[in-house]
Amino acid sequence: MALPDPFIASLRDAVDIVDLFRMYTDVKKAGRGYVCCCPFHSEKTPSCHIWVDDPHFYCFGCGVGGDVITFVRKMDNLGYMDAVRLLCERYGLQMPQQDPATERAAQLRRRCYEMNREAARFYFQNLIKGSDKRGLRYFKERQLTPDTIKKYRLGYAPDDWNVLRDHLRSRGYHDDEMVTAGLCRQSDKGSVYDYFRGRVMFPIIDRSGSFIAFGGRVLDGGEPKYLNTNDTPIYSKRKNLFSLNFAKDAASTTFILAEGYMDVIAMNQAGFENVVATLGTAITEDQARLIANYAKEVVLAYDSDGAGQKATQRAINHFSAVGIPTRILRMEGAKDPDEYIKRFGPDRFRLLIDQAGDALNYKLDKCRDGIDLQSEAGKSELLRRSVGVLADIENPLEREIYINRTAKELDVRKETLFQQVERLQRHRKQKAGQAEFRSIELKTAQRTTHVPEAQQFPREVRAEEQIIAYLLRFPEEHEVVAELIPPETFVSAFHRDVYAAMIELLPEHREGVLSLLGDRFTVEQMSEICGIAAGNEGIAIDRDTIQEYALLLRKAHDTAPPPEELTDDDLLRAVARKKNGR
Ligand code: CTP
Ligand code: MN
Repeated sequence: MALPDPFIASLRDAVDIVDLFRMYTDVKKAGRGYVCCCPFHSEKTPSCHIWVDDPHFYCFGCGVGGDVITFVRKMDNLGYMDAVRLLCERYGLQMPQQDPATERAAQLRRRCYEMNREAARFYFQNLIKGSDKRGLRYFKERQLTPDTIKKYRLGYAPDDWNVLRDHLRSRGYHDDEMVTAGLCRQSDKGSVYDYFRGRVMFPIIDRSGSFIAFGGRVLDGGEPKYLNTNDTPIYSKRKNLFSLNFAKDAASTTFILAEGYMDVIAMNQAGFENVVATLGTAITEDQARLIANYAKEVVLAYDSDGAGQKATQRAINHFSAVGIPTRILRMEGAKDPDEYIKRFGPDRFRLLIDQAGDALNYKLDKCRDGIDLQSEAGKSELLRRSVGVLADIENPLEREIYINRTAKELDVRKETLFQQVERLQRHRKQKAGQAEFRSIELKTAQRTTHVPEAQQFPREVRAEEQIIAYLLRFPEEHEVVAELIPPETFVSAFHRDVYAAMIELLPEHREGVLSLLGDRFTVEQMSEICGIAAGNEGIAIDRDTIQEYALLLRKAHDTAPPPEELTDDDLLRAVARKKNGR
C-alpha cells in the first residue's frame, strides 16, 4: 500500500522486538520465545508472549497483539506512518517517500516540537534578560538558584498578548500552527494571542529531551494558579511526567512522586534526582506504568492536606496494580516537600524519605481517622476497617505478622482476627472469580465484532482460524493451501480478507508476513490475527486437517444462498440506461 513491502521487510529485520519491549518492560526468556508483564494492561504475572520468528506479540490477558509497528502504534499512540517513522529514527533507517497527507501530519508534529523548543528558549531569555524582572524576582523569592533555573529551563512569559506570537511569526511559524501547539489561542473574532501571559514558566520535557508542553504559574494570588498546555498532537498530560527526563537517569531505583512542579524542583535542588510529578491531574494508570519502567519502589510525597492524602490512597492502588511497592512520606510542620525543605533543610528531608513507612502501615494508621476509640462502636468500626486492610496482604507470612500486631493493638484474640480476615478473603476471591468470568464473556463478545459469523457458523469459523494459523506456521505451504481453498469459500469476511492478503503476499515473502499485514489492517484487527496465531500454537494442524477444512468450507459455501449483489455488468447496464434517459 503506502509503503513498499521490501521496505517494511527491512524495517522488521532491523528492529529487535525483544530489545524494543525492554525499553518499556522487563522481558524474560521462556521456552522458544519470551514473556513479559503486558505493557498494555496492569498485571503482576507475565501473560504477554513475544515470538522472535516473524516478530510479534500477544497478551493472553487483555488480547492485545501485533507486529513491531502495531506495538509502537499502541504504545505511543501513533498512526501507522508515525510509528514507522519513529522506528526508522530509532533504528537508523531512511523513510521512503510518502503521500502528501501523512507527510503534512508528520511535518506538523515536527513543527510542534520546534515551536515548543523555541518558546522555551524565548521564555528563558525573557526571564534572564528581559526588562520585566518580576519572574526572576519570583523564583529568587522561592529560593531557586541560577543553576536550577538553567537546569529546568524555567522561564517567564511577559504580561503581553502577542510577544510569543510575534516572535514565532518572525521565525516563520503560522498562527494556526501555534494554536495547534497549544502556545496560542484564537479568539472568537479570529485573532490569535499568547496563551501564557504574566506567568513563570515550567517547560515539560519528554523522555527523549524534547520540549512538549508548559505549565505556567501566576505571580500573585490570581486564578487559575497554574495554567497547563492542553493535549496536542505531541503531548498528552495523562501519559507524561514532569522531570522524568532527569529522573530516568538517576542512580536510585526508588522514585519520589510529588504533586507539584515546585516540589519536584525544590527536591531536585536539594540533591534528589529521582523525583517526578504528574501534570495537573491525579496519577493515571499509564503514568504508574511509566514509572514502573524505571523504578523498583516509589515514595509518595503528596501534600499533607486532605486532597493530598486522598490522592495518596489512589496512587497506592495504582502502583500496587503494576507491582510496585510504595512507601508514604509523613510530613509534619509543612504542607508540601518544597515548604518542608525550606523550613527544615535537605538533611531532615532525606531522613524523612528514609523513614517513610510502607503503604500497609500507612493504611492501617489511616483506619483510625475520625474514630472514637473510647466507644465500643468506634472500636468495632476500627476492627472492621483493619480487617479490610489485612485481607489485602497477599503473602501469608507477612499477613500473619500484621495480624498478630494488630490483634495486640486492638486488644482482640488473634485467632478471631485471623478468622475474620480469612472470611473476607474468601468472599473477595469469589467476587473476583465472578468478575473474571464476566471479563471473559466480554472478550468473547468483542471477538464477535470482528467475526460476527461465528454465531451462525462456529465450526467453519474455527476451521478458518486454523487455516490462517497453519499458514503463519508453515508459510512454505501457501501454494498447496491456495490450491485447496479459494478465499471466497471463507464464511467470515474478516478471515477471508486476512487469508486473501496472505495468499497474495506469501509467494513473494516467505518470512515475516505479519509485519506486511500491518498497513492493511487496524491495530484491533492485528490483535485478532496475532490472537489466532497464539491461540492455536499448541494445536497440531497438518495437510490432512487442511483438506478436511477445505471440504467443510466448500460444503458451507455451496449450500449457502447466492448473494443478492449486483454484478459489475448489472451496474454498467443500469448506468447506460440512465444516460439514455430510459
Ligand atoms: N495544579 C494545576 N492547576 C491548578 C492548581 C494546581 O495544574 N490550578 C497542579 C500543578 O501541577 C501544581 C500541582 O497541581 O504544581 C499542585 O498544586 P498546589 O499544591 O496547589 O501547588 P504547589 O505545587 O504547592 O504550588 P506552589 O508551591 O507554587 O503554590
Ligand atoms: Mn507548594
